Amino acid sequence: MTDRPTIETLLREGRTFPPPAEFAARANVSDPAVHERAEADWQGWWASWAERLDWDRKWDTVLEWDAPWARWFVGGRLNASVQCLDRHVAAGHGERVAFQWEGEPGDELTLTYADVLAGTCRIANGLKSLGVGRGDRVTLYMPMVPELAMTVLACARIGAVFSVVFAGFSAPSLRDRIHDLEAKVVVCADACWRRGQVLDLKAVVDEAVADCPSVEHVLVWNRGEGAASASPGTERDRSWREVVAGQSTECAPESMDSEDPLFVLYTSGTTGKPKGILHTTGGYLTHVLATSNLVFDLKAEEDVFWCTADIGWITGHSYVVFGPMANGVTQLMYEGAPNHPRPDRFWELVEKYGVTILYTAPTAIRAFMKWGDEWPNLHDLSTLRLLGTVGEPINPEAWTWYHQVVGGGRCPIVDTWWQTETGGIMITPLPGITELVPGSATRPFPGVKAGLVDESGAPIEGPGAGYLVVERPWPGMLRGIWGDPERYVETYWSRFPGRYFPGDGARRDERGYYWVLGRVDDVMNVSGHRLSTMEIESALVSHPAVAEAAVIGVPHELKGQAPVAFVLLRQGHESSDALAAELREHVAAEIGKLARPEAVHFAPELPKTRSGKIMRRLLRDLAAGKAVGDVTTLADPSVLQQLKTEYEGRE
Ligand code: PRX
Repeated sequence: MTDRPTIETLLREGRTFPPPAEFAARANVSDPAVHERAEADWQGWWASWAERLDWDRKWDTVLEWDAPWARWFVGGRLNASVQCLDRHVAAGHGERVAFQWEGEPGDELTLTYADVLAGTCRIANGLKSLGVGRGDRVTLYMPMVPELAMTVLACARIGAVFSVVFAGFSAPSLRDRIHDLEAKVVVCADACWRRGQVLDLKAVVDEAVADCPSVEHVLVWNRGEGAASASPGTERDRSWREVVAGQSTECAPESMDSEDPLFVLYTSGTTGKPKGILHTTGGYLTHVLATSNLVFDLKAEEDVFWCTADIGWITGHSYVVFGPMANGVTQLMYEGAPNHPRPDRFWELVEKYGVTILYTAPTAIRAFMKWGDEWPNLHDLSTLRLLGTVGEPINPEAWTWYHQVVGGGRCPIVDTWWQTETGGIMITPLPGITELVPGSATRPFPGVKAGLVDESGAPIEGPGAGYLVVERPWPGMLRGIWGDPERYVETYWSRFPGRYFPGDGARRDERGYYWVLGRVDDVMNVSGHRLSTMEIESALVSHPAVAEAAVIGVPHELKGQAPVAFVLLRQGHESSDALAAELREHVAAEIGKLARPEAVHFAPELPKTRSGKIMRRLLRDLAAGKAVGDVTTLADPSVLQQLKTEYEGRE
């Protein structure tokens, strides 16, 4: 290990990393022309992946595209849970481990594919007994436990549309999502462990559903010994023991149309209201099956795959549940924090379970880097053969640290660009063939066509920078926004007609590699999580002391970006540190802790155009310590000087 080059040397050298020969020799993709081959018949390429799924009825047409509405594998019928479970069991792999699970306090569970199938069927039968059927919606609010994955699969099995809400969201956020979806049943855990604390999830659910007339039942899974006790309080609440435990371990899967909804996942947009991103069945499964297989080079008989994302985010849907399970691989699932009880918990887990592929976020990598090399160095990480990142641009320094200190200089890194809306990975290296450049997600996945356009929508050819677009439909693409078809058209397909606009800016270099630069809209990326400035502003304005608020994302060493608020108080309210703290907590209570502003600045006025639009750009410049750009459109230019004094005074 001592002859490892230092990170500084590697960065200075601007080194590129060709696939290690040993890795390339066994890689799932070794054909350097795979992109070109897929491009020549891109629909045929996707269909070749769809063919690996078990269809009850094969599709008639690969794609019907009535822009911007796509239908994939039209006429086909299948069940998503069958792809992840039954077909592995039927192929004789029922005894293969599906999940090695570890709770934060150290409790362990090993579940085979046969166990997960049985557990899924029990839950499916339990949900049916509560009256849940095809097309009904079920909201899930659970920690990282196998029961969450099984409940997701159980909904899929009976044709119910599931929506997982990350268990860090607050009661009002949960309530709004349940409302929007008109969920019939909520499945939750009573509690979970986080940094040595028991979090009372049931209390959050109780507060949320108090105001949700659509909810007929809350099904409560008990986290177990040491956790808060679930005491079903009302007629509405049902315990796992009562509803699920005694059910049969067999449940015939519903045969679903390829375009039947599979799930709705809420994500932040540029307005105050989160969008329910709708994903359907056949295309989504095809996309996550193919990307898991090729990007992560999965070998079902050998690998132990660990995606550290929570199932509450799209990464967990696609690369904990559906992608890896459709590939029949063994996975590690961990409930808790990476630094509990010590900053080496992840590395201890990698060593203990022999993890071979690790997929995590740049924000986590930066935290590990800060905690120091001594923690990964305490453990034998030699089982690792491939590393991945997702969620935000990775800075070359963090990339290089990950490569050297975690990967021992021997593991390729797949930097994968995609979104809740894309369903699966879109721009990514293929580890057996792609020469890596730290900080670049490299090339579109085979079959995906990306591009860059300028402000006017004109395509940029060759090297350049502009707005990232996707040029044609892909199977995992969102099919709409729940209950709001116009917003779908408007948000993604109107800015550059005929092209999908994800909201990111990017650069393309001489090799054709993409460098995703970040959001170009009023969305920020905090620790790899998407937050809307407007959503935080609405939360602030709901506080009685606040008249107006403007929120921006500022660069943050660990989180990538962090929200900072500028607030104009109502008459009769005085600015104070105590009020700033109160407002930060108010946002945490309204949305969730992840949205809590890093700082709240009180402003005598907010910079606005003459038409009254808040100029966040000026606030961003101010926060970045930059010379403030064009202020000629500002209604009152003196506002900026006052703000500057306030901002610098509090920094
Ligand atoms: O800005 C991009 C950033 O995360 C956004 C998508 O966020 P979300 O829907 O929450 O999904 C995150 C996990 C897929 C994108 O619009 N992003 C994601 N991955 C990368 C990235 N930015 C740069 N490089 C990436 N690898």
